[in-house]
Amino acid sequence: MPSPLADPVKLPCGLVLPNRLSKAAMAELLAKNNQPTDPLVDAYEQWSDGGWGSILTGNVQVDVNHMGSPFDPALHSEYKDSETNSALVAQWKKYADACQKHGTPAIAQICHPGRQSFRVAGHRGMFAQTLAPSAVPIKVGDSYLEKLIGYLAWTEPKEMTTQDVEMVIRQFVDTARLMADAGFSGIELHGAHGYLLDQFLNSKTNLRTDAYGGTPEKRARFVLEIISQARKVVPSTFAIGIKLNSADHTSATFEETMTQIALLAEAGLDFMEISGGSYEDPKMMGYGKANATEPKSSRTAAREAFFLEFSKEVRQRHPELVLMLTGGFRSRAGAEAAIRDNACDLVGIGRPAAIDAKFPRLLLDESVGDDEAQLLLNKAPVPWYTRFLPLHLIGAGAESTYYAAQIQQLGKGIATLAPPW
Ligand SMILES: Cc1cc2nc3c(=O)[nH]c(=O)nc-3n(C[C@H](O)[C@H](O)[C@H](O)COP(=O)(O)O)c2cc1C
Repeated sequence: MPSPLADPVKLPCGLVLPNRLSKAAMAELLAKNNQPTDPLVDAYEQWSDGGWGSILTGNVQVDVNHMGSPFDPALHSEYKDSETNSALVAQWKKYADACQKHGTPAIAQICHPGRQSFRVAGHRGMFAQTLAPSAVPIKVGDSYLEKLIGYLAWTEPKEMTTQDVEMVIRQFVDTARLMADAGFSGIELHGAHGYLLDQFLNSKTNLRTDAYGGTPEKRARFVLEIISQARKVVPSTFAIGIKLNSADHTSATFEETMTQIALLAEAGLDFMEISGGSYEDPKMMGYGKANATEPKSSRTAAREAFFLEFSKEVRQRHPELVLMLTGGFRSRAGAEAAIRDNACDLVGIGRPAAIDAKFPRLLLDESVGDDEAQLLLNKAPVPWYTRFLPLHLIGAGAESTYYAAQIQQLGKGIATLAPPW
């Protein structure tokens, strides 16, 4: 019987994804002068031939002054149009073309890290403040050591003025336009993992009392304005999606998150990707504070996906919304179970994609049995000299570093290696 993973999915904008397997966004750390490079393009050429239904790029920063790392691609200044900025568009077109060389639609993830921009990332200088909805510093833990790590890694955030809000909205819209002009099939707003959009949505980081804070609806306004303004400047066939954080059913903010999701669904999204976590609590890497030292519960382990229950809840409330679920998928059986459970339409796959660029070919090959159609991964090795540091931070950092290195191997055409122990 053919796998349900092989079914195509049509997004509301008309874009057809040939199957349900999506290469999830992973920062490649391969940009130079914040522009796409040949190794970056080469890595995506490999994914383009991997049998994916869609390819999400690693985050593209909307402002070169505020980046996730010094090696992110980013917008340097205002983007006018494809004629005025023809060299820039040509450079990005090479990237979009490589992703889509074999017909798989590629979606560029666009991002502003807000208060999570490291001191060394971005052209603003080591001591300049980060931008955030409110001046709430990052707190990775209560110990002296954790406070020191927080101080060394990030500056104090500045509460954004209304002018700052308008500028960042424009930067998102400009970046969306550049991605459309370059030939990408869509954008995904990075609204998860504690980055700026998530900071606005979240009551712990958004303490504003103006039009952009105070209630769940007002906290969603920043994101909603970006979506509505971006819609006006890209073709109607261009997909606009968002990656969002889940909330535990038992959490005080669960219904508030659902209120915001309802507003986003009404805004006319092409898809919503469910993830979770932040730098303070990196659940997206399977290293949340709660499970940094313990294995996943056997129930979640059997069903692989980290945020399955939350996705099912969104699905129940918004059956029309195209849902992608990312985090933890390692096997055909796990991915099929999520589709059959009606938890999602699309399965986002991160780390296995960095090891095997053609992972979908294995999962969709009917001659391969379920036992073989998987890529189980050990935790990435944590250097011995960092073992006295908090595991939820070091473990997640080790995962990112390890898999970014594998992506760089892909870019060089060198064999990748799964974590050995
Ligand atoms: C090296 C690396 C870089 C990542 N960069 C991004 C990113 O740019 N944007 C994003 O939304 N998620 C990013 N993630 C998180 C993944 O998209 C995904 O949510 C996470 O790895 C869990 O999925 P997995 O278990 O399939 O790896 C990154 C993950 C890794 C390993």
